[in-house]
Amino acid sequence: MNAPPAKLTDSAPPAASPPAADLGPGLGALASPDAAVTAPAAGPSPGAATEVLAPAQAGALGPAGPRVGGRAASGDVAPGPAIGGPAGAPLAEPFPGPSRPLSVIVARDVSAWFGAHKVLERVSLTMPAGQVTALIGPSGCGKSTFLRILNRLHELVPGAALAGSVLLDGNDIYDRGHRTQDARKDIGMVFQRPNPFPAMSIYDNVLAGLKLTGRRVGREARDLIVEGSLTRAGLWGEVKDRLRQPGGSLSGGQQQRLCIARSLAVRPKVLLMDEPCSALDPTSTRVIEETMGELQREVTIVIVTHNMQQAQRVSQQCAFFLAADGAPGVIVEHGDTEAVFNSPRDRRTADYVHGRFG
Ligand SMILES: Nc1ncnc2c1ncn2[C@@H]1O[C@H](COP(=O)(O)OP(=O)(O)O)[C@@H](O)[C@H]1O
Ligand SMILES: [Mg+2]
Repeated sequence: MNAPPAKLTDSAPPAASPPAADLGPGLGALASPDAAVTAPAAGPSPGAATEVLAPAQAGALGPAGPRVGGRAASGDVAPGPAIGGPAGAPLAEPFPGPSRPLSVIVARDVSAWFGAHKVLERVSLTMPAGQVTALIGPSGCGKSTFLRILNRLHELVPGAALAGSVLLDGNDIYDRGHRTQDARKDIGMVFQRPNPFPAMSIYDNVLAGLKLTGRRVGREARDLIVEGSLTRAGLWGEVKDRLRQPGGSLSGGQQQRLCIARSLAVRPKVLLMDEPCSALDPTSTRVIEETMGELQREVTIVIVTHNMQQAQRVSQQCAFFLAADGAPGVIVEHGDTEAVFNSPRDRRTADYVHGRFG
């Protein structure tokens, strides 16, 4: 997605998307809390030494996939290479692999609509590599919408549209030729409510996202991926002796870490977290916060939180969103978390971070 035509941002919203009913099971299904509950994919058979994971399912969108800002998402249609190498090639590097450069994600002039309702106005934000960026602000100011635009989930909502660009290491994830499922593989998402597949085993839950990428994974590699992902998510010690039990048997905090592990299994460059602790008790919250501290060494993190203490504990960058009187959401102020909280430039930021509204 290049710079949008002026009319997209200045007046009427762009063409509406077709309904999301065209979606096959794909990373989008995983990413949607509701779809995840109703559409668990069949788990890999534990006995198979090597399994080719259904490549057809890797395409989150069919040929009639959504248009964003009037653009056909044509790059979604072509079956491309599997993650990590040519289609069908065995994994040379199972997991964990060698460390790789950390990724920066940049939003430029992002505006968003639901139908005729404009909810974001030219939001620009750089989320630096290897840092945690916290998005704060009152309910309804567009934080979740912004987060969902960062991994192409917004376009799944019927009637939703957007303008602007999202650059992952300089490449626009909305460009023609940039496939939706690649964006969702590179940029993982964890939601407010943990959404593991409840009847699927813990082991298969971790692999569920990977399965949808069409990547060929041998049994040993699968074991490594499961252990590596659960370790990174801070859950391995608690579940290593019960990997065949259903995901639904875990506590809420454990389920959230299982979802983090599921996201990590596809080795994302960026992890988006939308109020990941708001349904959790303080102990589970602390564990997740510690996990984030570890993870930011290898993945760039963006977190929406309403908890001001949490924002200060976990983030190095902070952006304050606000939507005044029905106007679209904007970023009032952003910068180092320390500065946003302790010496905000804008009076509204000071009022919000000190709990005077919102
Ligand atoms: N699926 C949707 N359809 C229509 N309007 C929506 C939808 N999701 C969110 N909105 C609206 O978009 C605005 C921003 O919402 P959201 O991004 O969820 O804000 P936040 O996460 O900051 O609470 C709100 O006015 C909300 O009502
Ligand atoms: Mg929200």
